[in-house]
Amino acid sequence: MIKDSKVRYGSVSKTFHWLMTVLIGWQLLKFGDRIAEGEHWVGQTLVPWHVSIGSLLLVLIVLRLAWVVSQRRHRPAQNPATARLVKAGHGLLFAGMLLMPITGMLVMLGGGYGVTAFGMEIFAEGEEVPWAASLGSLHSPLAWALTVLIIGHIAMALFHHFVQRDDTLKRVL
Ligand code: HEM
Ligand code: HEM
Repeated sequence: MIKDSKVRYGSVSKTFHWLMTVLIGWQLLKFGDRIAEGEHWVGQTLVPWHVSIGSLLLVLIVLRLAWVVSQRRHRPAQNPATARLVKAGHGLLFAGMLLMPITGMLVMLGGGYGVTAFGMEIFAEGEEVPWAASLGSLHSPLAWALTVLIIGHIAMALFHHFVQRDDTLKRVL
């Protein structure tokens, strides 16, 4: 089933969810630059893809949001007692997924570095842009906030699966 239904997520939603989980996990390895200034295996192999993977994530989140809107009437039902909380939590995850690549772009444009993804120049190098640099300074605090949200999200998924023993995790697998 490609589309979502009231009882489970369809293959498109699941593919977005797990592909982006892997790519966002990859992006968070950028925190590793704080250890020995990135002079370690992870810093030398996976982290240099940060701008490319981040640019790909910007495309993916736009497509994912369009898909979510198209499916909004037939997505898995939530427990009415916590539905608002779940909606708010997922909404914040979506906001984080959109704001991370946007502020990342602003860091690069603000510094006048331009943006090159997978060898393709998206924005050329140029002058520094102070307003973009100051909005870009939100990139790091947002990365911390998104990390906390993701930890909470995973904890809730495990709570549903192992404590409440319902099918919340199964319907996205
Ligand atoms: C979902 C997408 C992204 C995530 C989760 C993410 C995550 C992160 C994290 C965790 C850091 C380290 C922050 C710290 O140590 O305080 C970082 C830094 C950085 N990111 Fe991203 N990033 C994303 C997208 C992008 C994109 C698209 C670009 C550029 C086009 C970018 C450019 C940078 C730069 C230049 C830094 C170092 C400067 C700074 O910390 O402000 N990021 N990012
Ligand atoms: C090991 C990692 C993860 C696990 C176990 C997990 C688990 C789940 C589960 C069980 C659901 C279904 C919730 C429901 O229907 O009530 C879900 C949905 C969702 N998850 Fe995750 N998740 C993970 C990583 C992530 C990450 C990294 C993000 C984004 C930063 C994310 C964002 C979302 C969103 C926005 C939804 C709502 C459904 C959708 O539109 O895709 N998840 N997740």
